[in-house]
Amino acid sequence: MSSPEFAYRVSPYRFIARYRNGKWEEGHLSTDENVILNESACVLQYSQNVFEGLKARKTEDGRIIVFRPDRNAARMKDSCIRMAMPPYPEDLFLKAVDDVIRANADVIPLCTDGSSFYLRPFMFGTDPVLGVRPASEYEFRIFGSPVGRYFSRMIKLRICDLDRVAPHGTGHVKAGLNYAMSLYAITEAHALGYDENLYLDSATRTYIEETGGANIFFITKEGKLVTPKSDTILPSITRDSILAVASGYLGIETEERPIALEEIKEFAECGLCGTAAVISPVESIDDHGTVYRFFSDVTEEESVTAKIKKVLTEMQEGAHPSPEGWLHEVTLT
Ligand code: PLP
Ligand code: COI
Repeated sequence: MSSPEFAYRVSPYRFIARYRNGKWEEGHLSTDENVILNESACVLQYSQNVFEGLKARKTEDGRIIVFRPDRNAARMKDSCIRMAMPPYPEDLFLKAVDDVIRANADVIPLCTDGSSFYLRPFMFGTDPVLGVRPASEYEFRIFGSPVGRYFSRMIKLRICDLDRVAPHGTGHVKAGLNYAMSLYAITEAHALGYDENLYLDSATRTYIEETGGANIFFITKEGKLVTPKSDTILPSITRDSILAVASGYLGIETEERPIALEEIKEFAECGLCGTAAVISPVESIDDHGTVYRFFSDVTEEESVTAKIKKVLTEMQEGAHPSPEGWLHEVTLT
């Protein structure tokens, strides 16, 4: 099979569990990819939904490995709490991930060439509401899609004049509404030839936050990894892993701190990180016509970014030792 793109491709089975009368009912696998909703369902009227993204990888020796799924379960719980939704229990989340992988094992591609089985857990309010209040009934689902790389070349970012999240808003959780906020800007960015928008903090518009679908990091000229500290960005599991790989395995100094926009001219390398993006090197950032370029003193292949990416992807594919508890192997029988 040739490497798929990062797009939805229906797979045979998905997991569905319903919340009714104040409790979660036992879930089941289904072959029906459609959702039927009341016209006034809370998710349709008031966008009450949250989601997650994680990848299962099939290795050449036939194992299927999931990278840090416990972190996705925990983050989904945090997202649910912020969106006034009843969290789906973390142990059942992990079991449902395994069930979906097992049921779809035949369509999971080999992880060579960056392919994987992207799992999309999500949850939404289903019962009708008209006054603004949370739903009292919910559906938790997980589907999977065979995917390839999100970015297949070095990427170009632009500083975005629109905001996607607010101070004290929902930027630190994975609510669908954050992504709705980015749709106008991403359409415009693509039309202008950029791959993604780089958002600034909406309170002062002087600090770098993240892109619409990934965290960002920089490498200084001295080889130190620097990444934004902010309460309004998503706490990326990939970023957390990169920080551990850089300091614990490669002896690279790391720092999480607010990064001012005016600092970016000082950095040697730049990358995006996330489940979909993995580690994607950034060629340039365009700030209203002033273009900052990275990887000019070193080729992308010889960069610090490439060294981190190599170890991280080998870990994700089970080919490099990783910290205790990072890899979950799914038993297929
Ligand atoms: N930031 C945003 C806005 C995202 O959508 C994602 C993707 O999940 C990330 C960061 C990266 O998070 P993770 O590494 O946990 O996938
Ligand atoms: C992910 O990396 O899992 C994301 O959610 C980013 C994007 C595809 C929405």
